[in-house]
Parts: sequence; C-alpha cells; structure tokens
Amino acid sequence: MAELLEPIILGDGIPLRNRICMGSMTRNRCMDDNKPVEATIKHYTDRARDGTGLIVAEGTFICAHGAEWPNAPVMYNQEHADAWARVTSAVHEVGGKILFQPWHAGRIQNDNMPMLKQSGYPVYAPSKIPAKGGKFRTLEGNPGHTHNLTEIDDPKAIVEQFRRSVTLAKRAGFDGIELLSQGGYLLHNFLCSHSNTRTDQYGGSVENRCRFPLEVLDAIIEVWGPRAVGIKICPSDDYNDTTISYEELTDTYTYYIKELMRRDLAFINLSRRGCDVGRETDSYFRSQPRPEGKELPPKYEPLAQFGSFIKYPGSRTMLMVNHEYTVEEAADSVRKEKIDLVTFARPFIYNPVSG
Ligand SMILES: Cc1cc2nc3c(=O)[nH]c(=O)nc-3n(C[C@H](O)[C@H](O)[C@H](O)COP(=O)(O)O)c2cc1C
Repeated sequence: MAELLEPIILGDGIPLRNRICMGSMTRNRCMDDNKPVEATIKHYTDRARDGTGLIVAEGTFICAHGAEWPNAPVMYNQEHADAWARVTSAVHEVGGKILFQPWHAGRIQNDNMPMLKQSGYPVYAPSKIPAKGGKFRTLEGNPGHTHNLTEIDDPKAIVEQFRRSVTLAKRAGFDGIELLSQGGYLLHNFLCSHSNTRTDQYGGSVENRCRFPLEVLDAIIEVWGPRAVGIKICPSDDYNDTTISYEELTDTYTYYIKELMRRDLAFINLSRRGCDVGRETDSYFRSQPRPEGKELPPKYEPLAQFGSFIKYPGSRTMLMVNHEYTVEEAADSVRKEKIDLVTFARPFIYNPVSG
C-alpha cells in the first residue's frame, strides 16, 4: 500500500523523498530586475530542507509582462538563467528537487504596467476579448485587465518564446518543467471558447482550441524530453473569467487529457479549483456561484471524471492533484491509489520549515 511519506521516482529518474509537492506560488520578491534574490534562495531552501519532495517554483514570465504582480520573475536571457542557477543549486544542496514553471499571462495583463510600457510589448491574446475583473493595485484608479489586446498573428512565435525560456531553465539547473495551462492565462485563453473566437486552425473545434497548448508542450518536450515534463490543468476553473459549461468542460478535457497522455509525460497536475469541496481555507480563491448554464453536477470533482484517464494499471504518467487538500484526504487518496502525488500551496507559506 502506497503512503504519502514514501519516496517515489518522478518521470524516468527524479527521485522524490516523499509524495508531497509544494505548489507554484508567485512571491513578488524578484527585486533585482525581475531576477531571484537572496530571499528567494532562503524561501525555497527552507522548504526543501528535510521537507517537501518536490517544489514547483513560482510562475516565471517567458517575455516582458504587464501582469498584476510586480517583481515576479522573468526568464528570457542568460542573466536570468544565471540568477536562477543559484536557487536550483541551493535547493539541490539540501536534497530537494525543483521544477520551472513557464508562464505567459495572455489577456490577464494591463498595458500600463511598467515592464510593458518600457518594452512596448503588446498584450497578446488569441482574440480581442478582454477578461472580466482584475484589479491592478499599483496603477492609478485600480483598473482591471486591459481592453487593449493584440490578437496573436502567428502563435508559433510565442511557442518559440516558451522554447527559449525552458532552454534557459535547463541551463539554470532545474529538474524539470510544469507547464501552466489554467488560471485564465494564455494557454487557457486558447482552450476556452469564450476567450478564443479565432477562425483559423487555432480556434473553433476542440481540436483547434487545444492546438496551441499542445504545440507549446511539444516544444518543451523537444528540449526536455517528456519524462521531465508535467502540466497543470483545471477543468472546473473559475479564476480570471474562465468558467465554462459542463458540456464544454467534458468535450475539451476529454480530448485534451487524451492528447496529453499520448505524450508520455511525467505527471499531470489536476486542480479542482471552482468545485465546492466543502472547505475554504481562506478567501483568496473563494468561488462565486457559477452562472446559469455553467453549473457543475452536484459534488463534482475533476478527479472523479478524469482521474482514470491518467491513473490506471501500467500508466507511466503520474497523477498529481491540488486545491484545498488536507493531509488526511491526501494520505487517504494515496493509500487508495486514487492519486500518486499531492500539491499543497498555501500551507507552505505559513509553514516554511519541517519538523
Ligand atoms: C499567493 C499564491 C500565488 C500563486 N501563484 C501561482 C503560480 O505562480 N502558478 C501556479 O500554477 N499556481 C499558483 N498558485 C496556485 C497554487 O499553486 C495552488 O494551485 C492553489 O493555491 C491551491 O492549492 P492549496 O489549496 O494547497 O493552496 C498560487 C497560489 C497562491 C496562494
């Protein structure tokens, strides 16, 4: 019988001391021109030392960005990679493992944020459909997500930015990649029909809406090989204007997960954000009732609908889960062989050191 605190091998050769992973969390501390600093090193090593089996580092932008978080990291040149190399080697020195999370925020940006103003870089999205909500606290008047969107002309150019970023991450000594495909950011913008109304091969049918995320994933696999790569998805997501109908959810993720599984990935990290699991540890991700026509079935959980697509006898791809898990629920799910790994995020903010 598997146990939460038992070691496990991720992919083909990433030994983890236990099945508890620390979820990716933006920390806004990259004060040195969006590069990690001493505080970043301390943050990760405190948690890696005698603690979590695996850390997923904070989402890191693959190009200049106008997202809500000042001092979030970027990874698009060698200087960025050199700065991250200090973090990865410090984590390795204390016996930890750390993944890189490449991030493009898509329509969840504002063009008045300093980095975009300076670079003149546009806010790219699949279609010119602004996201509802947002609150840019560092901008006058606290505006929301921008309406000044630029429709991506050539998605392959952005695929190349992902490739550059994960190539640098490899030089920086990360152990692998977790691709962010939820939360209303660029990959998710392509997946949802309400943010993607393109009429070319990247919009319309489920296959077309999944094309861009899969092309990004394939570019990452070319650099890293599939066994050092995972992806984070959330069929039930409602964050950043991402709520879709149950029918769209079923059609999209049935196809998407089957395509992901064809790629022999190390893991799929399945989130249940947007589901009512009878627990609210704080108000950060509190879900509003879903609008009419977009309700989920009672007691819905993506794990019940899609878990068996990923975890079955002989599957080489591990099933990782996250969102509002307790230690008891995670341990029970590992023991019952419903999951392989669990991510805790918020609890790692207030519990830096084990023991
Ligand atoms: C402050 C904060 C920042 C976060 N930043 C990221 C991020 O950069 N990338 C990501 O994939 N998820 C991010 N998340 C989501 C977490 O990784 C995780 O999926 C979520 O908090 C649910 O897990 P939990 O209930 O154990 O906290 C963030 C969460 C918090 C609270």
